[in-house]
Amino acid sequence: MCGIIGFSGNLDATEVLLNGLSELEYRGYDSAGIAFFQNETIKTIKTTGKVSNLIEKVASIADKQTTCGIGHTRWATHGGVSDTNCHPHTFGNVTLIHNGIIENYHEIEKEFAKSGKHPVSQTDSEIAAMLINDLYEGDAYEAIKKATTILDGAYAFCILFKDQPGVIYAIRNGSPLVACQAEQGSIIASDMVALIKYSKDYFVLPEHHIAKLDGQSIEVTTLEGNQMEPKMLHVDWDITSAKKGGFAHFMLKEIHEQPTALHNTIVPRIKNGKLDFKEDGIDDDVFTGINRVIIVGCGTAMHAGLIGKVMFEKLLRIPVTVEIASEFRYNNPILDKNTLVITISQSGETADTLAALRLSKEAGCKTLSIVNVKGSSIARESDYVFYTHAGPEIAVASTKAYTVQLSSIYMIAFKFAHIRGMIDEETYASYLKQLQEVTTAVETTIGYDKKIEEISNCLTSAEDLFFIGRGLDYALSCEGSIKLKEISYIHSEAYAAGELKHGTLSLVTDQVPVIALATQEHVYAKMISNIREVRARGAMVILITNGEMPVDDDLCTHHIILPKTDDQFAPFTAAVVLQLIAYYTSVHRGLNVDQPRNLAKSVTVE
Ligand code: F6R
Repeated sequence: MCGIIGFSGNLDATEVLLNGLSELEYRGYDSAGIAFFQNETIKTIKTTGKVSNLIEKVASIADKQTTCGIGHTRWATHGGVSDTNCHPHTFGNVTLIHNGIIENYHEIEKEFAKSGKHPVSQTDSEIAAMLINDLYEGDAYEAIKKATTILDGAYAFCILFKDQPGVIYAIRNGSPLVACQAEQGSIIASDMVALIKYSKDYFVLPEHHIAKLDGQSIEVTTLEGNQMEPKMLHVDWDITSAKKGGFAHFMLKEIHEQPTALHNTIVPRIKNGKLDFKEDGIDDDVFTGINRVIIVGCGTAMHAGLIGKVMFEKLLRIPVTVEIASEFRYNNPILDKNTLVITISQSGETADTLAALRLSKEAGCKTLSIVNVKGSSIARESDYVFYTHAGPEIAVASTKAYTVQLSSIYMIAFKFAHIRGMIDEETYASYLKQLQEVTTAVETTIGYDKKIEEISNCLTSAEDLFFIGRGLDYALSCEGSIKLKEISYIHSEAYAAGELKHGTLSLVTDQVPVIALATQEHVYAKMISNIREVRARGAMVILITNGEMPVDDDLCTHHIILPKTDDQFAPFTAAVVLQLIAYYTSVHRGLNVDQPRNLAKSVTVE
């Protein structure tokens, strides 16, 4: 959703900006640009396409020495992908980059038109540059402050004023910005991955605060003009975590990182054979006084919620609904203080999920978030945060973040089922043991890599495809389907296996492969009948079972046998198979696995 970076210091700023943009490219890759101070002017270089295009263009320019500048990699929202719409945008004294959406840009544009001022691009961002320029009379704080009273929508801006060389101003509302003062200078960006090379200590710029970076220090000021000390955070991963490390793609690397991510998320929370959330600040009474749970998220995170519903209802016997965050707040949800709202988000910045959280808090609900990125907006605004420890996830298609979200849901379900007396000591101990063993089962499943690569060959030319399953397997089917379609561009749907015959079966032919998940023994016989229904229509079937299960010769075309776990843990291993199927199908189709078309990671706009 656009990556932005600003640097002022004692290094070659173009190099810092271009390196940073390469790290931030997962946030958008429609175009990229930089602007920097040079000889009392601001020079801008921008181009459509990927950051590599920008790097080439910058390399061809001789005169680019600078110590201060800003850079942007774009995911187009307002205005198509064109050179004019690339950031940075300059109007008069002001050059800026923007991540977010200015919702009232059209009204502001109309006001400017009355005095004959027109933007050159079709972007909402240039209107912000026009506005700040219009309000600027030498005092950057005043101009930015006044602009915030006029601009509606989400934004993170880095701003250069032509008459203030070496200085970057930044402000945010909704969209993320993190910053650090390193030995080499002051640096600010959308994500820690662009900062980690310089420092592991950083802060999240508080919303509606202005940061001034001059290379020596970063001053953070409230809109009322008071200086404040932002809360420092520390990351426990290093630059190698944000590199491919010998893997062909980030997605493959992240699939392989799952055993470690699961270990890091689960093991520190088990103390003396019991789950201990003291370090998370999660009290034992989180579930006290509540009579229902709503899980909210988007995409893959919401799919983790679907698994959560099954697990919470089974273990806690509390009614759980799973809501798509973008729908939630517009559907007048029924919320009260007896409702626990669990938001799930890798980035912790997804605009719809954040809005759902805010609405829930306003309605007096208890809120708990499962989040991967430390200090992110969702983490900061929730009553309770349960951090996953997946490390940075760079590929647009989420993999390790999903399995650690599952492990978090399982831990929360186990702990509170135990506290509420829903499971006895023996069951509790057995669940915890099995949860820890999941790490090894996932590792074993990753070892099926070659077999899955081979099987995926038969999907390369498919145009439509179905994933079917029941219960936990249906929830997993939803995840398998999104993963496949987002990176292979094959149209796919997830269906509850028993629902197919109520309409959808008419779409199944010998040209439509079906991936059937049959990991749940209590509905295994029913699944087999549903698989027979699609086989009878000629469908090629890839069957996934939890350990050896009775399978007739003609039931499937390919059979993937997961390392046997208790059925309720099968989502962990099955998820790995689905990720690898999606990955290899995308590779076989010659597509950009890590940066699929039209998408970007961390969706900070509605
Ligand atoms: C799909 C995927 C997305 C995200 C969704 C929510 O592979 O990654 O569906 O899961 O955009 O993102 P977060 O978890 O950052 O809120």
